[in-house]
Amino acid sequence: MAPKKLIHTENLSLELGSKDNKVKILNDINLTIFAKEKLSIIGPSGSGKTSLMMILSGLMTPTSGGVLFQEQPIHKLNEDELAQFRQEHIGIVFQNFHLIPSLTVLQNVAFPLALSGVDDAEEEAKNWLEKLGLIKRISHMPTQLSGGEQQRVALARALIMKPSIILADEPTGNLDQKNGNIITELLFDMVNDFDTALVLITHDEALAQKTDRIIQLVDGTVTEDSAVNR
Ligand SMILES: Nc1ncnc2c1ncn2[C@@H]1O[C@H](COP(=O)(O)OP(=O)(O)O)[C@@H](O)[C@H]1O
Ligand SMILES: [Mg+2]
Repeated sequence: MAPKKLIHTENLSLELGSKDNKVKILNDINLTIFAKEKLSIIGPSGSGKTSLMMILSGLMTPTSGGVLFQEQPIHKLNEDELAQFRQEHIGIVFQNFHLIPSLTVLQNVAFPLALSGVDDAEEEAKNWLEKLGLIKRISHMPTQLSGGEQQRVALARALIMKPSIILADEPTGNLDQKNGNIITELLFDMVNDFDTALVLITHDEALAQKTDRIIQLVDGTVTEDSAVNR
């Protein structure tokens, strides 16, 4: 059976800046991501990795070209439809965790589920926090946690909606080696267990080698797209 396309882009381009000072950020990107696939995106700082991730996850709209999610053109959705789309399909993990500082660990993880109208969101959040080894931290505020713990909370929050894909932007970039390894292992365990596709932006060559495929971006252009040989 042919692998199922999850996301694909058609001549996707992004320009930013003011009217007289336009900067090309992404140039004609044609990329297909398959269901359950683990893909890493590497490339120098400023090459457009984060911008591409923002567009793939429906947080930004391209200037031209398209993004299709299961053949549905998401670049044509309005803000409300995009929010709904992200809630249903996309899990995002940022380098700086992006937890809500005024909510406890439990509330942070339960938040997306509660937002979607589920009654026992906190019960479900507890299950995820248990899986990620954080059950003793559920009443803490984000600032009371170490970076590694905050990233585990962010991971639980991304996973709780059972997304089809997790997009992670340098998720270990703010962590020391030991905590980085813990996060990486949890991330890979979880995407394997739940058949979630993964787009992992990383500077870490060894980490990229753990995915199925590596894309390299240079100056907003895909310069390499290769399967990892194992
Ligand atoms: N809002 C913006 N306006 C203008 N340029 C931007 C904006 N955001 C990012 N850029 C530029 O876009 C390029 C790509 O940025 P980014 O996607 O963050 O790259 P990466 O994640 O690979 O470091 C960089 O040159 C950056 O300076
Ligand atoms: Mg970036």
